[in-house]
Amino acid sequence: MRSRLVAGLDVGTTRTSAVIGELEAEGRRRPALRILGVGQSRTEGVRREVVTHIEQTTDSIRQAMKEAELMAGTSVDRVWAGISGVHVKARSSMGVVAISGDEVSRSDVDRVHEVARAVALPADREFLHAIPQEYMVDSQRGLKDPVGMTGTRLETEVYLVTAAASASTNLKKAVARAGYRVQSLVLSPLATARAVLTEDEKEVGVAMVEVGASTTQVAAFYEGKIRHIAVLPVGGNTITNDLVKGLSIPFAEAQRAKEEHAVAFAQLVDPQETVPLPGPAPGQTRHVARELIAHIVEQRLDEIFGLVQHELAAVGMSDRLSAGVVLTGGTASLPGTLEMAGQVFTAPVRIGVPWEGLSGLAEAVQRPRFATVTGIALHGTDRVHETGQGATTLSSNLISRVGAWIREFF
Ligand SMILES: Nc1ncnc2c1ncn2[C@@H]1O[C@H](COP(=O)(O)OP(=O)(O)OP(=O)(O)O)[C@@H](O)[C@H]1O
Ligand SMILES: [Mg+2]
Repeated sequence: MRSRLVAGLDVGTTRTSAVIGELEAEGRRRPALRILGVGQSRTEGVRREVVTHIEQTTDSIRQAMKEAELMAGTSVDRVWAGISGVHVKARSSMGVVAISGDEVSRSDVDRVHEVARAVALPADREFLHAIPQEYMVDSQRGLKDPVGMTGTRLETEVYLVTAAASASTNLKKAVARAGYRVQSLVLSPLATARAVLTEDEKEVGVAMVEVGASTTQVAAFYEGKIRHIAVLPVGGNTITNDLVKGLSIPFAEAQRAKEEHAVAFAQLVDPQETVPLPGPAPGQTRHVARELIAHIVEQRLDEIFGLVQHELAAVGMSDRLSAGVVLTGGTASLPGTLEMAGQVFTAPVRIGVPWEGLSGLAEAVQRPRFATVTGIALHGTDRVHETGQGATTLSSNLISRVGAWIREFF
């Protein structure tokens, strides 16, 4: 028996995360991922999701991957890597071909994809995804798989995602220097959506909103189609910077104050409560109203969610959110985020954690901050299942023996 290992890597602004799992496809319509190992490290050398220092980024990747490999009790030679940033662009593109025989064949589908993808791409941009959204055969719309349908004209709508070539080159370089091959790059918000949203939610209308450190990423779906993807240049770091200014403390102290004492909804705080903060002189402590911290955080988060709401309204999605808004990312850990978001979006809001299609050490990744990396690995799992490409293959009795022994320690 050979076993196929799939690895996901998410190089975020503050944390690099890695997940290694084994493909479980037997007797399943949709493959599952048996989680074997998880690793994390502090990211150095990344700004606003873009690699700015290769050596530092390489170290962060190596550390997270080694940790995941140690826990999994095995190693991998390739990874599926997430990419994001404000340089990402996405749009729909249409393709039309005449059906060659009486009914649609696989080669007609390949041809229509080629036509839809044939858009001029400047030298500084790279294709990330061309996702078929729906097919139309003559006047029949909304088809998921047109093969075998009778007709004369086949049309498709694909969702094209491109990234700045320099961003992808530097990420690939850092991964290669850490000793791994990039199997393929995956757009992070799509990966996160893969992990935290269900197919039913995408059908009735849903928006995934991930508030990370330097970015807020949005992916909206309706009728099973991607309706919008946005990467906004605001996030948890913006909130921390507000605390730096509002409380006159250094960034590291502000970050700590935020993670320990902040609440996203000021109404939830007792107005009498104070928290100790450093200063004004070294070694001294002062007491600050917890409500003040909450007010600063609430104002910025309100603005961030307002920007998201604006993005959704611009593509006509704000009244199509029957399944509501699914929040994830590190900043969504702020107490009161759900209440705050509920006010802005006037739609049901829940916290998204990776859920479907996982087994093994699944509980190790069932947290909002592992949503992206788990989604990247799940995306890889889907592709390996479809194409047979992209996994590290090894003799499975090797992992179970070594892995079981190592996992005893976790
Ligand atoms: N308990 C907490 N309370 C408040 N904020 C938190 C908490 N834990 C983490 N954060 C914040 O979440 C952010 C990190 O989130 P996440 O790990 O999703 O970001 P990232 O992937 O590194 O960044 P990005 O996706 O923007 O590149 C930081 O701003 C951090 O301060
Ligand atoms: Mg992130």
